[in-house]
Amino acid sequence: MKGLILAGGSGSRLYPLTQVVSKNLLPVYDKPMIYYPLSTLMLAGIRDILLITRPEEQVLFKRLLGDGRQLGISLTYAIQEQPRGLADAFIVGADFIAGDVCALILGDNIFYGDGLISLLAESRRQLGQTATGGARIFSYTVRDPSRYGVVELDAQDRPVSIEEKPRAPRSRNAVTGLYFYDQRVSDIARRVQPSARGELEITSINQAYLDLGALSVTRLGRGYAWFDTGTHESLIQAGSFLQAVEERQGLKVACLEEIAWRQGFITREQLQAICRSLPKNSYGSYLAEILDGG
Ligand code: G1P
Repeated sequence: MKGLILAGGSGSRLYPLTQVVSKNLLPVYDKPMIYYPLSTLMLAGIRDILLITRPEEQVLFKRLLGDGRQLGISLTYAIQEQPRGLADAFIVGADFIAGDVCALILGDNIFYGDGLISLLAESRRQLGQTATGGARIFSYTVRDPSRYGVVELDAQDRPVSIEEKPRAPRSRNAVTGLYFYDQRVSDIARRVQPSARGELEITSINQAYLDLGALSVTRLGRGYAWFDTGTHESLIQAGSFLQAVEERQGLKVACLEEIAWRQGFITREQLQAICRSLPKNSYGSYLAEILDGG
């Protein structure tokens, strides 16, 4: 399975923070934002990942994450010249996906919750390696659904309708920025027509799968936290939440080196070498504690 991270938006809602820095590199508490979506793909066991950015920002992401070798993953980079919309990720990434099944996560989406790893594993299993495993999306109850894609579910949690930023939402189930698709996704993306706001909407892809009877929805219940950190308010809310959880537990969320080690992507010796190279700050000492069995 391939993974894609779309970190290509202009971040205009966060101006002036995003005047010279990509939104996806802004701090969310103690890490750059991109760490969080990358960690979600790693927790799904995905090791072959394409990072899609704006042209001028690719160099910064490369400086931060390199080719991923240090994390036991393979990171490739692609450029989105224009913010043509989320569905464009599957056109930009078509050669990378090369007919495989894939997961897309948006570079500003943060997922947290105890059941996440098994949920991700189950989603991977559903898709399998088949051409027609369908699509799996995740919904989350929000107060302000009009800001998001919104999915309406029947009594068995089967999707009935899906709309992008509806004025009159039919439910409070926001569609989160994590999507699993079978091998048809790039072909479907090529057929998507731009929406009224001129973008190739991910919702159009999901609609196509819904029309095929191949869209399944998993509700992320009340025990999960989901943040889309595209506004000043949500950025600080996510930061405060993560600060509280990390401080209370003494465990870090989205510590990539820890995840790489726990997932078996790197060895203990490799993690020890990383530890020696890190600055003597709380991040470095956290990893040292983890190695000592903390
Ligand atoms: C995008 C999608 C939307 C989804 C949201 C999740 O919205 O278009 O369907 O609910 O991501 O973060 P955007 O961030 O482009 O406003």
